[in-house]
Amino acid sequence: MFVSQHPLLRFGTWSIVLASILSWAAAEAGNPTPSCQRSCGNIRIDYPFGIGEGCFVQGFEITCNNSYSPPKPFLQLGDDQHEVVDISVAHNQVRVRRTVVSTNGFYGNGTAVISENIVNLTGTPFVFNNTANKFTVTGCNSLGLISLGDGNILTGCLSLCDDNLEGVVDGSCSGRGCCQVSIYEGVRTISIAILNLFNDSTIMDLFNESQVSNLHGCGYGFVADQESYTFEVSDLHRCSSSKMENSSMVLDWVIGNETCEEAGKNRDSYACKGTNSDCVGYGSGSIGPSYRCSCKQGYEENPYLSSGCQDINECMAPHNPCQGKTTCVNLPGSYNCKSSKFPTWLLGLAIGGPLFLLLLVPSLYICMKRRKLMNLKQKFFQQNGGLLLQQQIAFHEGSGQPTKIFTTQELAKATDNYAESRVIGQGGNGTVYRGNLCDSRVIAVKKSKTVDKNHIEEFINEVVVLTQINHRNVVKLLGCCLETEVPLLVYEYVPNGSLHYHIHNPDMACLLSWDDRVRIAIETANALAYLHSAAVTPIIHRDVKSSNILLDDKYTAKVSDFGASRLFPTDQTQITTLVKGTLGYLDPEYFQTSQLTEKSDVYSFGVVLVELLTGQLSVSFERPEAQRNLSSYFILAMQRDCLYEILVPGLANEGNKEQLKAAADLAMRCLRLKGEKRPTMKEVVFELSGSRGIHKHAWDHVNHEESHRLLDEQSELHGAESSSTVSLYSAMSTWPLSIHNSETFSIDFPR
Ligand SMILES: *[C@@H]1O[C@H](CO)[C@@H](O)[C@H](O)[C@H]1NC(C)=O
Ligand SMILES: *[C@@H]1O[C@H](CO)[C@@H](O)[C@H](O)[C@H]1NC(C)=O
Ligand SMILES: *[C@@H]1O[C@H](CO)[C@@H](O)[C@H](O)[C@H]1NC(C)=O
Ligand SMILES: *[C@@H]1O[C@H](CO)[C@@H](O)[C@H](O)[C@H]1NC(C)=O
Ligand SMILES: *[C@@H]1O[C@H](CO)[C@@H](O)[C@H](O)[C@H]1NC(C)=O
Ligand SMILES: *[C@@H]1O[C@H](CO)[C@@H](O)[C@H](O)[C@H]1NC(C)=O
Ligand SMILES: *[C@@H]1O[C@H](CO)[C@@H](O)[C@H](O)[C@H]1NC(C)=O
Ligand SMILES: *[C@@H]1O[C@H](CO)[C@@H](O)[C@H](O)[C@H]1NC(C)=O
Repeated sequence: MFVSQHPLLRFGTWSIVLASILSWAAAEAGNPTPSCQRSCGNIRIDYPFGIGEGCFVQGFEITCNNSYSPPKPFLQLGDDQHEVVDISVAHNQVRVRRTVVSTNGFYGNGTAVISENIVNLTGTPFVFNNTANKFTVTGCNSLGLISLGDGNILTGCLSLCDDNLEGVVDGSCSGRGCCQVSIYEGVRTISIAILNLFNDSTIMDLFNESQVSNLHGCGYGFVADQESYTFEVSDLHRCSSSKMENSSMVLDWVIGNETCEEAGKNRDSYACKGTNSDCVGYGSGSIGPSYRCSCKQGYEENPYLSSGCQDINECMAPHNPCQGKTTCVNLPGSYNCKSSKFPTWLLGLAIGGPLFLLLLVPSLYICMKRRKLMNLKQKFFQQNGGLLLQQQIAFHEGSGQPTKIFTTQELAKATDNYAESRVIGQGGNGTVYRGNLCDSRVIAVKKSKTVDKNHIEEFINEVVVLTQINHRNVVKLLGCCLETEVPLLVYEYVPNGSLHYHIHNPDMACLLSWDDRVRIAIETANALAYLHSAAVTPIIHRDVKSSNILLDDKYTAKVSDFGASRLFPTDQTQITTLVKGTLGYLDPEYFQTSQLTEKSDVYSFGVVLVELLTGQLSVSFERPEAQRNLSSYFILAMQRDCLYEILVPGLANEGNKEQLKAAADLAMRCLRLKGEKRPTMKEVVFELSGSRGIHKHAWDHVNHEESHRLLDEQSELHGAESSSTVSLYSAMSTWPLSIHNSETFSIDFPR
């Protein structure tokens, strides 16, 4: 606070200094660490806000001051800390306290007193909300001035009253005791000043002095949202700013300095990545192009979290959107009104026995609600083939592990309502959550994408068959839940992550000795051999890859993800299907012919074996174009007799050279272009086990000739390019860069 001879002049000069350069650094979007503190005192701290490293988007850091009781959250805005009163992520708004308050104390010697204050949001994501906030001035001879943005806009208002406080009314800010002006849109800097006019002779000469009260020397100017401050006549007597300081202002925020269109292209920093999250453009006043996120229509909650937008259950809204005439069915993102017959006897009853009805209605209402929910669950159960499954289970009763049908509640409870912190895996097919059952069993729950209705029967068959598989190297499917819209699958929990992680994470890879690698290969081969031959109906996995091989606490391999698997009718040796699989592991013969045989799994296994040997990714754009696929890279190295140069460094030693050579030769045979020339999984198991047990063995017949022949087969394929539409290897090496090795793709082949 200070005194000036020429308050208005002074105000003018500092408002010029206000020129602000507005550039808000795009926040890097990402998911917060699950362990973040999400409240401070009584205030919820939702992402993008957060407390502590990794918990917030840049610019949204909250500090929680525990010296208050309850603790208070603070947000740093420019030079000042502002207390946070409320965060509403759904509306992209935050309310902060410590509003701009200027008081001018007493005066009385012929000099105006001026007080000023600045809130500078430049360099923060925040913008003053122009509809909720107003610049408010109270006092009996107070002139409030406000400079907005870069200082080009100067406005203000005058509040006057006489000693009798005539015309001063509670709740009215029309110039008597209180006045207000709106602020403009898109403003980041606000400077306010307040001065007492009384006894500024220049100004007061214009007035009848007795019109201006001398009693009320306290004037206040502040920016506040209208919900947090209501003018009262008593405010003029108090001469204390505590009420005004208790009010808050509303700040909107933007999250990037680009338009939605540009931001959408820059996927890394794009903040609205979440499912059902939309980008909303913003850019007005001196704010450049920018955007924020909002949930799509029909969804609500947090658009900044990857799965933060939840479906709104419109049917539960206070006003039934179907207006009671029809049954309301909630759908993801919307709802449906289904006509239902209103029981007319109820109407008669209403006329006859209002008292009876009064007692009946609440319980009836609850019943109907419950019934509606039950009906919906029943509907999904049927839609997802629950009845079929029940039949199948009855049929197979006693033949194996029982299929458990879990209820929605059971799984929701086990996974903390599918909490973000429970996510252990995310892929193209769905999300996997860790869950704890009441009986303390740990489970993995897979929430898949909607299952195509035409494939429900197949899905059920797979569920039935998989629950009957009892093999130590296959992830056990414990059951499923069909009451939700998408079927949920419940697996045993495998704690140590995927083989892919262990091979390709530098810290882990060195811990995997050759013996471990062979053992994992044998276990995987064992599981596949079992699926191909031993199971009731042969099963082709179709998506064998290192990321689908999980390791348990003892590093035992467990083959997982049967999402793409096909049951293989025993009377057929091949079936024609849509090509499904993962680039880099996909059997080229199957890719060309779409004829699926168990040898496709053998090929994919061969790639995994090469991965175990070389530690290389199945597809790498760091390798020369012709060797992007690990198989081509490996075959070329074998042909040049460079096996020992491409092995994982440190893997080979005097004791295991022969084993390595034998495994590499076996891999070569698995990778043969013609499926019929590949060994079966049983043979693979046999040979791998042999190579481990007996160091001397008799499969030296795979020699250089073999690799030459393999490459010849490859060039044959190239030669055939003219007749077929696309050459596999050229197609793969010029594959669009956006497809990475881990992505699963499917191609609809003409039959
Ligand atoms: C607001 O802050 C920015 C940088 O933080 C500065 O350039 C600008 O001059 C400030 N404006 C005022 C009015 O202080
Ligand atoms: C937007 O923010 C990014 C990150 O801070 C910065 O590199 C870029 O120059 C900014 N763009 C504009 C137009 O201000
Ligand atoms: C917490 O608030 C107290 C009282 O206002 C203040 O003295 C202290 O510096 C604050 N602590 C932090 C970490 O900001
Ligand atoms: C205002 O100033 C005049 C002289 O300029 C003085 O006589 C008068 O008492 C002052 N009024 C108040 C309320 O201080
Ligand atoms: C008026 O009072 C202020 C302090 O309240 C003082 O700084 C100023 O010098 C005084 N002016 C005159 C003309 O007495
Ligand atoms: C300002 O706040 C109001 C009320 O909360 C809201 O409807 C409006 O969209 C906000 N304005 C902007 C630009 O976000
Ligand atoms: C000033 O106002 C008072 C009462 O409000 C009135 O009696 C007086 O005549 C007015 N004086 C002038 C010069 O208007
Ligand atoms: C401050 O505001 C809260 C509600 O926001 C109210 O309960 C409280 O009484 C207010 N305190 C003062 C001093 O006005």
